[in-house]
Amino acid sequence: MSWPVPKPFAYFLTYRALFPADVSRVRSILLGVDKKQPVSGREYACGLSYVPVTRPVRCEQTVLRRFVTGCNMFTEKEREAVYKVIFKRRDIRTFLPKPVPQEKINRILTAAHHAPSVGFMQPWNFIIITSDEVKKQLAWAADKERRALAVHYEGEKQSQFLNIKVEGLQEAPVTICVTCDPTRGGSHVLGRNSIPETDILSTACAIQNMWLAACAEGLGMGWVSFYKKSDIRDILEIPPHIDPVALISLGYTDDYPEKPILELVNWEKRRPLAELIYSNKWGKPPEDNEEGAIDKQQPLHM
Ligand SMILES: Cc1cc2nc3c(=O)[nH]c(=O)nc-3n(C[C@H](O)[C@H](O)[C@H](O)COP(=O)(O)O)c2cc1C
Repeated sequence: MSWPVPKPFAYFLTYRALFPADVSRVRSILLGVDKKQPVSGREYACGLSYVPVTRPVRCEQTVLRRFVTGCNMFTEKEREAVYKVIFKRRDIRTFLPKPVPQEKINRILTAAHHAPSVGFMQPWNFIIITSDEVKKQLAWAADKERRALAVHYEGEKQSQFLNIKVEGLQEAPVTICVTCDPTRGGSHVLGRNSIPETDILSTACAIQNMWLAACAEGLGMGWVSFYKKSDIRDILEIPPHIDPVALISLGYTDDYPEKPILELVNWEKRRPLAELIYSNKWGKPPEDNEEGAIDKQQPLHM
């Protein structure tokens, strides 16, 4: 019998038709993906794309090419946009009275709710505050704390501290109190037994999502943590076991600085990243990294 295609290829096609799971698995292993997990016969995972193994070869090649080039879900422009929002985002403390559309608030909250969380615990709640009276009380609590903290500085440093605007709670049209419920999910949340504060860390991830989403929405967002938790619990009637992690000010602004406000007022500056990276052991700088090279590298969007 004569073969219409070279023999080894014909064997391969027959084998693939009979045992698609094996072919898929071999391919995954060759590509270094999912070495330990079995790959299903009909589909093999490529990041978020799933591809039927029995599809025509041409289609598989297209998928494989995409896969080999880095399993990229994003176009170049989309990737740049992600970096752009990371670098452009700032902590904002000056707000315009212009109301914030509800759809924008909803998208920001949805972004928060899609943050990672330990054991998928989702320990957060969001109290949306628009009442002027309540905002006034929150601003009072923050100002009381700011004055209390001023005792930690002396002389010129103290007056510099007192001159820095640390909140815009009353100006901002919306304040969101983000809380963390350490009891959510019961006493055995997967992965939380070793490091209990992973609940707060998860809540911080949600807040960072809000920050990036607010920036992408053309809004300013400020994170206020100058307060005694007991004051905030009293004002917002939060139960004692719930942790008020952050007060978030949200609104339009005409003052969106290029650099952190604390850098602009010479309070602190960004440290060289090269000094913060170690190789294998604490304190050991990477050998092959030309000194400071990483700090000279331009971010993608610039
Ligand atoms: C956990 C946390 C708490 C913060 N608390 C305050 C605060 O109470 N008041 C304030 O003005 N800024 C606060 N900030 C904002 C920081 O000052 C700001 O992120 C930092 O100066 C860097 O500036 P950037 O966010 O514009 O890059 C807080 C930020 C974080 C992450």
